[in-house]
Amino acid sequence: MSSATSTGADALAINGGTPACAQPVAFMAPRLTKEDVAGATAVLESGMLRAASRCAELEERWAKTTDANHAMTCSNGTCALQLAYEPLIERGDDVIVPAWTYIATASMLVARGANPIFCDPIEDTFQIDVEDAEKRLTPKTTAIACTHLYGMPVDIEAVQDLANRKGLKVIYDGAQAHLARYDGKGIGAYGDAVTYSFYATKNLGTGEGGMITANDDALARKIGLLRSHGETDKYLHESIGYNYRMNDITGAIGCSKLDRLGDETARRQQVADLYDARLAEIDAVAAPVRTAKAEPVWHLYTVRLDLSKLTCTRDEFCAALKEEGVPTAVHYPRALTRQPAFAQWAQDMPVSDRLAQCVLCLPMHQELTDEQAGWVCDAVAKIARAFAS
Ligand SMILES: Cc1ncc(COP(=O)(O)O)c(C=O)c1O
Repeated sequence: MSSATSTGADALAINGGTPACAQPVAFMAPRLTKEDVAGATAVLESGMLRAASRCAELEERWAKTTDANHAMTCSNGTCALQLAYEPLIERGDDVIVPAWTYIATASMLVARGANPIFCDPIEDTFQIDVEDAEKRLTPKTTAIACTHLYGMPVDIEAVQDLANRKGLKVIYDGAQAHLARYDGKGIGAYGDAVTYSFYATKNLGTGEGGMITANDDALARKIGLLRSHGETDKYLHESIGYNYRMNDITGAIGCSKLDRLGDETARRQQVADLYDARLAEIDAVAAPVRTAKAEPVWHLYTVRLDLSKLTCTRDEFCAALKEEGVPTAVHYPRALTRQPAFAQWAQDMPVSDRLAQCVLCLPMHQELTDEQAGWVCDAVAKIARAFAS
């Protein structure tokens, strides 16, 4: 390839010889086992469909595994954010949030009536840049909302240090970071609240579902009440709330999947180690850099292309990988500050804007074999060579 503006058809011509993968590799492998189905079926057969013992069991186990004092199930990761934000953030507050995250982290701030103050991430870890965040603080800033993106914990020490110095609340979005650890503890040990999503494709996926963890008893009580119409006794409502409850079918699937989440996470970590080692040999492709003290759980394994060393765009690189049997995804194609929904906050975010051009996610899941992970790296090396400038 010679042109930096090659077409998709040109990109496909780059694939010569035998595809790197003997069979196409799956990007993800969300699965229900016989045990998951049996758990859900038992709930169906019992007729007890509302949140009951299986949700309570999931809460108890989630609090333990994340090192949090309290865990509260809810309907999904978006309402988990709402339930965490409402007691911690007032209408009109300014809240720091990265421009490089899923929309819900920021949109639920707007839903709360708060003003998102966007900041950039650190380019090689993808996680909130706390120095950049500090420069953007305003007199009205009361909180930081940040995401353990792709399953990699943020630099929690730096976030908490800034929060302590400036008297800010901290809400961590752990939607992609089930079982992630930082400095030897589960991520539930840090900040005011942590939220999780159990959407179908998450490391623990129940279809829809969510969780909030918190360490303060009074905050946990408030979140619990908000989740279910402020009800303290049958038809006695202490405060205004919502119906954001989980149900026991979901709870049972969650408990069953939690039984194997540790093993599945360990496999993701092995695949990430393998990718790291092989990608270090490829000049134009940068593996994700790990935050100090973090134990990531690799919901996504995201690499950056050095486009100055390639004659193609990221999308052409992905198209060529697909021909080799390697599906990819782009998390995310644009910074939140480039989303029409955030037109009011549109601005340049140099790091996020660059990442939007050059990131791609490689297959990552618990069923990948060493051989398949090797094929993926062979394909990346082959395409990087073919597009080398
Ligand atoms: C970082 C992040 N936050 C929040 C959410 C929202 O979770 P849910 O889809 O369960 O509402 C997601 C889901 O994709 C996410 O990845």
